[in-house]
Amino acid sequence: MSSLSGEREFRINIAIDGPAGAGKSTVARQVAAKLSYVYVDTGAMYRAVTWDMLNQDIDASDEASVLERMNHLNIELVPGEEGQQVWLSGQDVTDHIRSLAVNRNVSHYAKIEGLRLKLAAVQRQLALRKGVVMDGRDIGTTVLPDAEVKIFMTATVRERAERRFRELPDSEETITLEQLENEISQRDELDRNREVSPLVCADDATVLDTTEMTIDEVVDAIVRQAHLQWV
Ligand code: DC
Repeated sequence: MSSLSGEREFRINIAIDGPAGAGKSTVARQVAAKLSYVYVDTGAMYRAVTWDMLNQDIDASDEASVLERMNHLNIELVPGEEGQQVWLSGQDVTDHIRSLAVNRNVSHYAKIEGLRLKLAAVQRQLALRKGVVMDGRDIGTTVLPDAEVKIFMTATVRERAERRFRELPDSEETITLEQLENEISQRDELDRNREVSPLVCADDATVLDTTEMTIDEVVDAIVRQAHLQWV
């Protein structure tokens, strides 16, 4: 039988991958809270780097400058009462990384191999002691291929666009749902077709199509899988 003390002693890592807007972060945060695990949002890292590169006027096509700049950046994820905060070289950038400008550019920076290697190393470090729920695109395939539970979350593009629409900052509601749907499709294309760690479902991942599922249902399905590891 499982027991709470058993759960505390035997910690696992949970990898949650999937396309933009599939609900990964909401679900991953709640799974982490239920298990008293740490939630790691790897997309936030790519977003923080993108925000900085845009500020520095460094184009994604200029890989040498991107990598040079990376040497000066220190990224920290800090669990907070209102969700995870992202700090970049001592500055809290949490409120800046969900803007349309970052949405539109992040996939171009996320293709750069040297950048991915650096962020993946930080992500692995965070998961060394286990007890992590990590979401992204390449967690089950590349970052944590030994994660005990791997989930691939999907939903229709329309559903995902509607979810992202609700997430946009008030100041940026000038974009229409249709435009957002197009942008999400384009981002999926870039993420699926890039050469380094593309968005693919790991062979041993459980696929959850969340289009018709509530958040609670998805969270419960993942927590059940976690419990199976220690019964
Ligand atoms: O999950 P998100 O929308 O916040 O991710 C932002 C972008 O970062 C997304 O377009 C793809 C990229 N990303 C990635 O390439 N690898 C990850 N592990 C996480 C995100």
